[in-house]
Amino acid sequence: MIVCDPGTEMHMAYLLAGMVESAGAEYTIAIMPSRDRSRNNDLPPTIERGLEAADCLIGLTRFSGAPTYAEAVKRLFNARRLRAISMVFRGMENFTTGGALADYSTLYDEGRRLAAIWRRGRHIRVTTPAGTDLVAEIGHADPIVECGFATEPGQEAAFPDGEVSQGPNEGTAEGTIVVDGPICYLGQPDRPVTLRVAGGRVVAVEGAGRTAEELRQIVETIENADNIAEIGIGLNGLCLRNGDFEEEKKARGNVHIALGDNIFYGGHTRSPVHIDMVLYDPTVTIDGQEVVVHGELRLL
Ligand SMILES: [Fe+2]
Repeated sequence: MIVCDPGTEMHMAYLLAGMVESAGAEYTIAIMPSRDRSRNNDLPPTIERGLEAADCLIGLTRFSGAPTYAEAVKRLFNARRLRAISMVFRGMENFTTGGALADYSTLYDEGRRLAAIWRRGRHIRVTTPAGTDLVAEIGHADPIVECGFATEPGQEAAFPDGEVSQGPNEGTAEGTIVVDGPICYLGQPDRPVTLRVAGGRVVAVEGAGRTAEELRQIVETIENADNIAEIGIGLNGLCLRNGDFEEEKKARGNVHIALGDNIFYGGHTRSPVHIDMVLYDPTVTIDGQEVVVHGELRLL
């Protein structure tokens, strides 16, 4: 099932449908409505029911991440009844340039090696020259390898792709995040945005720019948008630095931290939004071991 919305470039859906057919499978193209942010991760029940009869989901929505973050989809992953490729928030440019052109076999090998290191960890720390210094406990949820392959039921990947991510243990993230890269819904910040974090939640959004104001409003008005949901490390050396958060969050050595829903990451906090925010030039340590140093991946 290929799930679209009114923002989808439909020739991409038809192209994918043709490739599904040439692989000997059948397809259904479903179009969900665009929703405001209070319901942004909700799939229509008709699509949720349809997915129960599907083997593979391709999320091609442009306005929401619902095909990736809907709870019904996670249930089917957990039951090993569905696999998925997320192409949400992406357009034709994402499919034909930059990270799309990477060697995905190499990326997948690296992703699994990074996940093996990450899986043993219990504490993570992210710092950046812009002023980020965030610590969290980890280990309740398994790291997720998204490197372009979802060949078995229960697996999920994206395209373009190349990241390993994990939900930090709920309620444990502490410190400061300074966002200097692109943010889901909001794009490249006009000025860096500072988030103060305590007990796993954003307790203050600071900054004088337009982006800070918009993010402050989201965090204050949308249920659980203050939750620290995910920490991810990008692996794809061909991703462009073009201000597009889906492209830049996969870029090699970039970190992204997400606010909001963490069901996909093995947590228990539901939110209508999952907001990825890209950080440049990060250093990441897991149990004191340097995994990324100023945007350079180590140990791989
Ligand atoms: Fe991620």
